[in-house]
Amino acid sequence: MLAGKTILLGVSGGIAAYKSVELVRLLKKEGADVYVIMTEHATKFVTPLTFESLSGNPVFTDVVGEYKKYPVEHIVLSEKADLMVVAPATANVIAKFANGIADDYLSTTNLALTCPRLICPAMNHNMYAHPATQANLKRLDSYDNYQLMEPKEGRLATGIVGKGRMPEAIEIFNEIKYLLSPKDMLGKTVLITAGPTREHYDPIRFLSNPSTGKMGYAIARKAAERGARVILVSGPVSIELPPKVKVVSVNTAIEMREAAIKYFDETDIFIGTAAVADYRPKNRAAEKIKKGADTLILDLEKNPDIIAELGQNKDQRIVVGFAAETNNGFSYALEKIKKKNLDFIVLNDVAQKGAGFGVDTNIVKFVFPDGTHEEFPLMLKEDVATKILDQIMKL
Ligand code: PMT
Repeated sequence: MLAGKTILLGVSGGIAAYKSVELVRLLKKEGADVYVIMTEHATKFVTPLTFESLSGNPVFTDVVGEYKKYPVEHIVLSEKADLMVVAPATANVIAKFANGIADDYLSTTNLALTCPRLICPAMNHNMYAHPATQANLKRLDSYDNYQLMEPKEGRLATGIVGKGRMPEAIEIFNEIKYLLSPKDMLGKTVLITAGPTREHYDPIRFLSNPSTGKMGYAIARKAAERGARVILVSGPVSIELPPKVKVVSVNTAIEMREAAIKYFDETDIFIGTAAVADYRPKNRAAEKIKKGADTLILDLEKNPDIIAELGQNKDQRIVVGFAAETNNGFSYALEKIKKKNLDFIVLNDVAQKGAGFGVDTNIVKFVFPDGTHEEFPLMLKEDVATKILDQIMKL
């Protein structure tokens, strides 16, 4: 997603500088070209060589001699940058940026930039709360192209608990991806169901399936990156929550239906990735069922078909379903599109290696109501998510 993007990382002198090492690794893994600019104080916390080795690019510092080596590089860098992130941003750097001071490599580059900046303050809680710092942050926030990330409450370097901790590298990375994504879904509300449902037959046992939520969460993450308001109705899963997404946790198919119906009115696009149990036990024992007879017969009753109900009431909305099949996928998928009144269905043959439940990849086919289809090779679920959203935006 970040291939072809040039990101400048400004590192100023704070203990949180070590977190920026991980940030470089994440950015490089996603394909970004990263240039690190360090203040002289920052070089006391982490060596330039660490950043140079990880970024694969020269590191720019204020150490005597470096200016001479790359005399106008701050101008060259500022011209090719897509974004500059400053992490950690000390009170001093924030004060310089707010007041247009350009007395070192980082602050000079900042003034020459026209791209967005992401500023991640990190400092002692009293320094952060100081009226001067707060005024500087307010001033920065009022400038075009400055995005501030709020520091966290927590244990600071001195051992004191307070507000001033830099967010974790992964959080900054997610914010960078958000800032650099095209916002073609702004103004749209996307409702997604994800994960399995659990249908209890006693307080501790239930019928379920191996869905991990990975497919649905990937779509939620991508839609949010593209500017959509995202509501994710999720069955019980244990994966990381996507940023900027409203998550509604449910257990059973009945609860999932209730939540989906609640938000459907405000929805433009509904995507059903959840593996909803088709049946639930007719009775739920109040206490744990004791082991007794050799066989246990459970009476099951049909669960509501959530997407079919929403599909029948869709009006102008786009409704997209998934079909998890092991055989005759295409004809079953086509049947489901018609029965559930869908705009298209994403068919995954869950018997194929690398597709369906649990894995990070999927192999899918989009099947349309007129019987046409588009086939994709094995892809990361995040990339499948992008293809699905692209197709929805085409519709
Ligand atoms: O979560 P992961 O581990 O990443 O796995 C992803 C996945 C395999 C769960 C996903 O890719 C997938 O295929 N989801 C749909 C699974 C499924 O239940 O398929 P289905 O063919 O039974 O249902 C068809 C459609 O109806 C689906 O959109 C489903 O959400 C919906 N449905 C089904 C039953 C029901 N009672 N209510 C529904 O809304």
